Amino acid sequence: MSAVRFPKDFALGAATAATQIDGGCGDCNWYDWYQKGRIKDGSDPAVATDHRGHMEEDTRLMAEMGIRHYRFGLEWARLEPKEGEFSSEEIGKVRREIELLHQNGIHVLLTLHHFSNPMWFERQGGFLGKNAVEQYLAMVDYAVRQLGDLADEYVTINEPNVYAVCGYLGAGFPPGEFSMPHALRVMKVMGECHRRAYRLIHAIHKELGYAEPKVGFAIHMRAFVPYHAKNLWHRLACRISEYNFQTKINKTYMLGKDGPYADFLGLNYYARTATSGLGDGTLPDVPVNDLGWEIYPAGIVECCRKLHDLLPALPIYITENGTADNHDAFRRRYLYEHLKALAESGLPVTRYYHWCFVDNFEWLEGFTARFGLVHFDTETHKRTIKESGKFYAEMIARHGITEEMAAEAEREEYPHD
Ligand code: BGC
Repeated sequence: MSAVRFPKDFALGAATAATQIDGGCGDCNWYDWYQKGRIKDGSDPAVATDHRGHMEEDTRLMAEMGIRHYRFGLEWARLEPKEGEFSSEEIGKVRREIELLHQNGIHVLLTLHHFSNPMWFERQGGFLGKNAVEQYLAMVDYAVRQLGDLADEYVTINEPNVYAVCGYLGAGFPPGEFSMPHALRVMKVMGECHRRAYRLIHAIHKELGYAEPKVGFAIHMRAFVPYHAKNLWHRLACRISEYNFQTKINKTYMLGKDGPYADFLGLNYYARTATSGLGDGTLPDVPVNDLGWEIYPAGIVECCRKLHDLLPALPIYITENGTADNHDAFRRRYLYEHLKALAESGLPVTRYYHWCFVDNFEWLEGFTARFGLVHFDTETHKRTIKESGKFYAEMIARHGITEEMAAEAEREEYPHD
């Protein structure tokens, strides 16, 4: 146990996604999935946490906790309810939200795509459809022209690898396919979307005299380890999985002949995967969260280092990190250990966005997996700051972690596999 001092230019924030909090997700693929009965506890993304109805309260809570950086996203189905027909009403609501955040001293990182598609796009094949890239770029073009005077940081696409693997390799996200060629194709198409959006956003900001933007994408990276270190097949599976799940995407999305296509390295980190084949797995007798994901703080630095080796000049943003801890029993320890690892890494990590702020609609898990710093009551919609939320606020206020805080965090125990 020891105190931690955060580097001078390091800032803590919170991350969310439109479908997971806003309510009123429109005619989107996740509403369709909900109607097909695919959400574990039957929770409805059209309600989510009704953030749209609690925007003032959520923003005030964030400000009270000292949060100065907020990552949130657009809901494409609301922005473009019919192909080619954009909603000025929706843009007005997003503008008001950004203005409110600014009034509370909170800087915005805007996600343009986070797992959710309008059904008109989904029906044409989603990112496998023949006009997918142009359709995605038209949405980006509209959003950035309308919002670029207020926003200067963007995530083009959230976790293309998770979107592709969970949607097209059988992990249960819409559209629920089991096709390796499709999964690979989706990752490739999203790469083109990202690179072209990167150029487009810069061009629009320049053309309209908006501030120089920072643009990146958010990769979900895992620390990979062979299940049995001496087993050749496990080792080979480890290399193949890591390459296909993340290394290849990082290279093809950000490098390339006119690259780099990134102004920051966006990392979503949650867990370590132990490979004994080409699927996910967990080592025996390791600390795990409520979803059985290994808690492995050293992994956040391992992943940062890999990104840093790719583009050493860029700052690293932890665009997501957090844990499913339904009883808020070990989140303080999780925070302490991950932030300590980052602070002591010597790597240029300048932002940390905790996933998530208020417990949210956790995709297939509905509200059965709680990641929030703030508790959400699904009946009354009441928000209550958790002990871990208070701990987070204190870390922000002190710009570090005192010995007393560290001791408090270390008294918490992780569940074990
Ligand atoms: C996603 C979030 C999700 C979180 C926790 C990430 O893969 O970007 O939307 O809620 O993990 O599962």
